Amino acid sequence: MLDFLESEIPHIHFKDVSFSYPGEKENLILKCNFSIKKTGFWMVVGNNGSGKSTLLKLINGIIKPNNGIIKSKANIGMVFQNPDHQILMPNCRSELLININQNISDYEINKKIEYVLDQVGLNGFERRPVHTLSGGQKQRLTIACALISNRNFILLDEPTALLDQTSQLKVLKTIKNLTSDHKKPLSALWITHRYEELIYADSVAELKNGFLSGWQQPSKFQYN
Ligand SMILES: Nc1ncnc2c1ncn2[C@@H]1O[C@H](COP(=O)(O)OP(=O)(O)OP(=O)(O)O)[C@@H](O)[C@H]1O
Ligand SMILES: [Mg+2]
Repeated sequence: MLDFLESEIPHIHFKDVSFSYPGEKENLILKCNFSIKKTGFWMVVGNNGSGKSTLLKLINGIIKPNNGIIKSKANIGMVFQNPDHQILMPNCRSELLININQNISDYEINKKIEYVLDQVGLNGFERRPVHTLSGGQKQRLTIACALISNRNFILLDEPTALLDQTSQLKVLKTIKNLTSDHKKPLSALWITHRYEELIYADSVAELKNGFLSGWQQPSKFQYN
């Protein structure tokens, strides 16, 4: 059922990347170096305002660095911090449909919609108007859209911020399963400020003072 996820392994490489927003003197991201070369569940933790969302926008090319090089060979999907910034369509089914990136039969489409809604705990929500969804349900819809979109690298910006603990665990386990599938690997870069989520990661790094620490195993992760 996971055959819709591309199999090619994505690569992301940052070399001495610096970035400041227009009009700001200080670099928010400062000589940042890191690579992601394997599939897996990658997490970045950092304080409010440390530049986590900015880092994701640099990775997917929404903004460009002032200095340094970003190399990316990945088919990137994005789950924004605020679901209202990304949902376009009036109901769950139509939102999922505009994220399907393939020419496939109605039967396959329906199967995939059912599958991704189940993965995020939104079974039976297919016909539901978006304006009737809670914030957490909207967030889970955007995650379902990322899953159905045939990407091999998904950026998730604090995807559990609006979720209760049950939904939080369900979404964490879904991403963990997809990133652990060796036949059809998926990579996910997950931003969080919830330290209890880090144990689900394969690798963890901290963004602080514009700099991303080296990747560490969650069991050995130390805050600077
Ligand atoms: N478009 C923009 N123009 C100017 N400053 C910005 C812009 N977007 C973000 N910033 C500033 O850059 C800094 C980092 O923002 P960013 O959203 O990347 O942080 P964050 O780590 O994701 O924070 P949070 O944990 O609150 O989501 C903040 O001080 C923010 O006000
Ligand atoms: Mg943010």
